[in-house]
Amino acid sequence: MEDAQKGPDHIAIIMDGNGRWAAARGLPRLFGHRAGAEAVRRTVEACCELGVKVLTLYAFSWENWDRPARETGELMELLDEFVRRELPTLHANHVRLRAIGRLETLPSGVLATLQRAMAETAGCDRMTLVLALSYGGRQEIVDATRRLATLVRQGRLDPAQIDETLFARHLYAADLPDPDLLIRTSGEQRLSNFLLWQSSYTEWYVTSKCWPDFSKEDLLDAIAAYERRERRFGKTMVRG
Ligand code: FPP
Repeated sequence: MEDAQKGPDHIAIIMDGNGRWAAARGLPRLFGHRAGAEAVRRTVEACCELGVKVLTLYAFSWENWDRPARETGELMELLDEFVRRELPTLHANHVRLRAIGRLETLPSGVLATLQRAMAETAGCDRMTLVLALSYGGRQEIVDATRRLATLVRQGRLDPAQIDETLFARHLYAADLPDPDLLIRTSGEQRLSNFLLWQSSYTEWYVTSKCWPDFSKEDLLDAIAAYERRERRFGKTMVRG
């Protein structure tokens, strides 16, 4: 019998389909996002129970700013409300909250709420919940390149020293491992500018369920599918 691969340490999720979930029920999109926030709460709890070390959620992309102002405003309010409401539970479950993206573009009140929650959970070490906010994979690579270019201009870095390891050290959350498993809900099979650098060898799992319907059983199905895969990282077979 083939050895099962150990479960994923880092799961990343593209939480898609809130709008379709709402439309199917004749509801405004906000109701889909609200139900999506509940799915976030359930998924964080399930990942914690399952011993996942890092959970990264694509909560608001850089491109999402092009949505109508009413929807982006509602999403920001929902985010603020979610972080305030969940902070005691995150703390009690020893979950550290972090955020990646162009955080300086978030409304100042939301940024303040996030910074407070990140500071209060900084010592938590059971699981890390990473919210990708104002986040784009291309933007992250551009921002890392700008930092490196600044170091070169200051004479503190020789361009010949830049390799994959040094580059990765200038990404938003350089200390976190690459995702092992990337889940996308609502059937679409694309990366949508999420963790472009980090997901080079990440295993994909796509479910047709819309994000608000994503359950612990769906998470377990995704993990089971991952455990059946053989990861080769471009090398030859590692198992006999
Ligand atoms: C995609 O659905 C989802 C988003 C753009 C935002 C994700 C937000 C949440 C899950 C809720 C709030 C998050 C937190 C962390 C509290 P969509 O609107 O693109 O759906 P559609 O493709 O069906 O229109």
